Amino acid sequence: MSGKNAVSPQGRESFKSSFGVVAAAIGSAVGLGNIWRFPYITGKYGGAAFLLVYLLSAALIGVPIMLAEFIVGREAKKDAVGSFQKLAPDKKWYIGGILQVLASFMILAFYGVIAGWTLKYLICAAANGFAGKDAAALEAMFHDFKSHPFKPLLWQILFMGITGLVVAAGVEKGIEKFSKMLIPLLAVLIIVLNIRAVTLPGGRAGLVFLFKPDFSKLTGSGILAALGQSFFSLSLGMGIMITYGSYMSEKEKLGATALQTVAVDTLIAVLCGVAIFPAVFSNGIAPDSGPGLIFITLPNVFPKMPGGYLFGIMFFGLVAVAALTSTISLLEAVTAFGIDHFGWPRKKSTIICFTAITIVGILSSLSNGVLAQFSIFGRNLFDFLDYFSSSFLLTTAALVTSLFVGWRFDKEVVKKQLTNDGSSAAPYFGIFRFTIKYITPVLIVIIFISGVLTS
Ligand code: PHE
Repeated sequence: MSGKNAVSPQGRESFKSSFGVVAAAIGSAVGLGNIWRFPYITGKYGGAAFLLVYLLSAALIGVPIMLAEFIVGREAKKDAVGSFQKLAPDKKWYIGGILQVLASFMILAFYGVIAGWTLKYLICAAANGFAGKDAAALEAMFHDFKSHPFKPLLWQILFMGITGLVVAAGVEKGIEKFSKMLIPLLAVLIIVLNIRAVTLPGGRAGLVFLFKPDFSKLTGSGILAALGQSFFSLSLGMGIMITYGSYMSEKEKLGATALQTVAVDTLIAVLCGVAIFPAVFSNGIAPDSGPGLIFITLPNVFPKMPGGYLFGIMFFGLVAVAALTSTISLLEAVTAFGIDHFGWPRKKSTIICFTAITIVGILSSLSNGVLAQFSIFGRNLFDFLDYFSSSFLLTTAALVTSLFVGWRFDKEVVKKQLTNDGSSAAPYFGIFRFTIKYITPVLIVIIFISGVLTS
């Protein structure tokens, strides 16, 4: 990690290659949300019927908001708060930026805990630690581990430490370099796991569970779940894509980058379903929800399948890599705020943000065990951070960005960003303006209100 990081002509750190830009954005988007949450809720709400709604919401909300965040970041060349301050100095839009940085902070505090679990399970898979255990033993193992007073903390701190090292190394030499290595690795792992899954005897039932459209199961809450999932999965409303946009050179095509990121994120989510469900069904196990699917059900399945030892390592390797590229982006959004707002050098900002987030993260990990009795609005800290950030901060922040770009931004600035100052065509400009002005904000308000009503 030596040598100088790439900088723009204005002296801001920047990504060097287009592949690096897309790899970093995909790295942020592809994470635990794709691996356990997406396959499960797809099955729960009617398989292919849900998939259709998800695709619509990724297109109608995901692509425009991601594009809007890129535009804000590249136009301002600042972190999420500084971007709004720079582009609208006389107004309070920057509060939307503060919510985004806060969202990244809170999400990383609990996401880092789960990321630590993935590392522990990777090592456990390598040590053949699942073999000979039945479902009850694996459940007890998971429960004892996550509520233990210090074991999960060690893994969490280790994972956060790796994240911190990558972020401290800088945009090009850290984030870009690691994303360029890890995303191809992730692709290879998922392809190998897919080949294994579809060739398992009895695995067909898993594919039927995932892909057979059943419109009777597609309820109102299923539609909301699709909208909410597209937000979280695409890492929107957390200042990440604004920050990454601020590191993009003037030659990057923002529309293509947003489209590719959404397409790959969605494809990987579907492929994760294909990797997981045939394996689960071929063993006659009921598909479980939440962390249990990854940390209890699958460790039960791998030892029973041919080659399961290796595939278990590959699977937990996949989960850990996917989590790492996401934690990197979360830490970067907060670190960039420290750099731009307080003028801290990158390393100092990384250390301060890492420390603050890890401390809150440790408390949230302990809230699964020794601190379980402390509750905030009826939830332990771990669940509260997840619920509050996903339900409130992300939606509000994304609404602010969409209103900002749709209503406050000069049309010409949007055009300049989408066409790279007239040097490339952006025939979708009109559709984008219309969507970000009217369609996206209305859909977000619907998600928000329904989220509050059903909580
Ligand atoms: N998009 C990631 C996922 O699907 C989660 C994430 C959320 C990553 C927020 C970064 C920021 O798992």
